[in-house]
Amino acid sequence: MLGIIGGSGLNRIADLEAPRRVTMNTPYGEPSAALTVGKLHGFEVVFLARHGDGHTIAPHRINYRANIHALHAQGVRDVIAVATVGGICDDLGPGTLVVPDQIIDYTHGREATFFDGVAQPLQHIDFTRPFHGALRGRLLQAGAASGESLHDGGVYGATQGPRLETAAEIERMARDGADVVGMTGMPEAALAREIGIDYAMLCVVVNAAAGRGSNAEGVAMAEITAVAEAAMRRVAIILASVVQHHGH
Ligand code: HPA
Repeated sequence: MLGIIGGSGLNRIADLEAPRRVTMNTPYGEPSAALTVGKLHGFEVVFLARHGDGHTIAPHRINYRANIHALHAQGVRDVIAVATVGGICDDLGPGTLVVPDQIIDYTHGREATFFDGVAQPLQHIDFTRPFHGALRGRLLQAGAASGESLHDGGVYGATQGPRLETAAEIERMARDGADVVGMTGMPEAALAREIGIDYAMLCVVVNAAAGRGSNAEGVAMAEITAVAEAAMRRVAIILASVVQHHGH
């Protein structure tokens, strides 16, 4: 079953038919919100609002382990994670949709593994390719079918937040090779890999990253919200198309 994790600006999927709420608990605590199970074009999907129903949970306080565990327990084996990001490279301006193919993790102090030798025995997973190739492909195909040209590939840099970055931090990330910056891709992607969920991200660029382009002097939160709101309508159409082509 396909799971959709919604980030900022995507707290629910309006088109979900016969939605029912499923409150879950996990060995790691409670997920960000109740799961919503419903049908999108006749196919059952499970939705979870990453920051909670009222968008109240800060990125570093999200219980990523509980979220991924709950989705898995509900039968989810593929996850498309929607997340807003800042654009570091100049050709990824606000409104661009990106399907990244790599990650650099700059977060710290998060519960980032199931295999910590406490809850479960220590295990080292392969994470060379952090996103699932076939699921990325399906996402790109769904974009094309929806008349959207999704940017194929890019390095997602995950920062701690909730503050935005300094211009120097973004410069460093650019030198590292990061193309977009967000706060939630890790440890979410790694936990999905650990539990055996195929995971891909659909990133929405909502601002030029700090110090870049039009944001040389600062990032306006109002712009972020407006761009996110407009883009999520396009995201909903792409998600519907993914499900139609998902077919199981
Ligand atoms: N930085 C980090 N996370 C973000 C940004 C940003 O500029 N925009 C949206 N999420």
